[in-house]
Amino acid sequence: MYASLLAALSVPALAVARTVVTVPERVCIVEPCANGGDSAPAIIEAFEKCGHNEEPSRGKVVFRNETYNIHSVMNTTGLKNVDVDLNGLLLWDTNIPYWLNHSLPVGYQNQSSAWLFGGENINWDGHGQATLNGSGQVWYTFVNGTNN
Ligand SMILES: *[C@@H]1O[C@H](CO)[C@@H](O)[C@H](O)[C@H]1NC(C)=O
Ligand SMILES: *[C@@H]1O[C@H](CO)[C@@H](O)[C@H](O)[C@H]1NC(C)=O
Ligand SMILES: *[C@@H]1O[C@H](CO)[C@@H](O)[C@H](O)[C@H]1NC(C)=O
Ligand SMILES: *[C@@H]1O[C@H](CO)[C@@H](O)[C@H](O)[C@H]1NC(C)=O
Ligand SMILES: *[C@@H]1O[C@H](CO)[C@@H](O)[C@H](O)[C@H]1NC(C)=O
Ligand SMILES: *[C@@H]1O[C@H](CO)[C@@H](O)[C@H](O)[C@H]1NC(C)=O
Repeated sequence: MYASLLAALSVPALAVARTVVTVPERVCIVEPCANGGDSAPAIIEAFEKCGHNEEPSRGKVVFRNETYNIHSVMNTTGLKNVDVDLNGLLLWDTNIPYWLNHSLPVGYQNQSSAWLFGGENINWDGHGQATLNGSGQVWYTFVNGTNN
């Protein structure tokens, strides 16, 4: 738990009154799984713990400048008032049989996904260096130029 000063209202002129609203901000730092293991459970846990906040509170999910390998599907929906601070790389595994078996339906154009992410009042910051790498080439090769 961290405390942050969310708003500071100062009254000008002679009055020195100053109202400081202190709001707890929940911060979760995701640690990458060691040795290239699956970081998905840690990511899901971080969004569960810090991704659901009622105003004026906000939460933050921080990814370090490291590689997070993802070997399993994630469903982090229904998020609210959260900042995502992504500094490193999310790299999806290339186990096609697993993904074909487990991918989550999107409910749109007969598509499915490895990660359902959604909610309201969410900010992402990739600091000009973060990457989401879905290992697309293995899929393009796999479908031999056919669609989906
Ligand atoms: C992030 O890590 C990469 C590779 O280790 C490094 O080149 C880069 O400078 C790092 N960025 C920051 C902001 O530390
Ligand atoms: C796919 O799912 C079936 C039925 O649940 C299971 O038997 C099989 O082992 C799964 N294959 C993979 C690659 O996950
Ligand atoms: C994803 O999670 C939400 C919230 O728990 C749930 O309503 C939805 O059915 C899930 N979607 C899938 C495809 O599992
Ligand atoms: C949706 O995709 C599945 C799997 O590729 C396929 O079997 C099915 O025919 C598709 N349905 C439609 C309506 O395109
Ligand atoms: C994504 O990851 C694959 C496998 O590590 C790599 O070959 C590819 O160059 C990466 N793509 C980008 C845009 O970094
Ligand atoms: C793509 O081509 C390879 C080799 O010809 C074949 O084994 C595979 O089944 C094809 N994939 C699809 C999705 O048609």
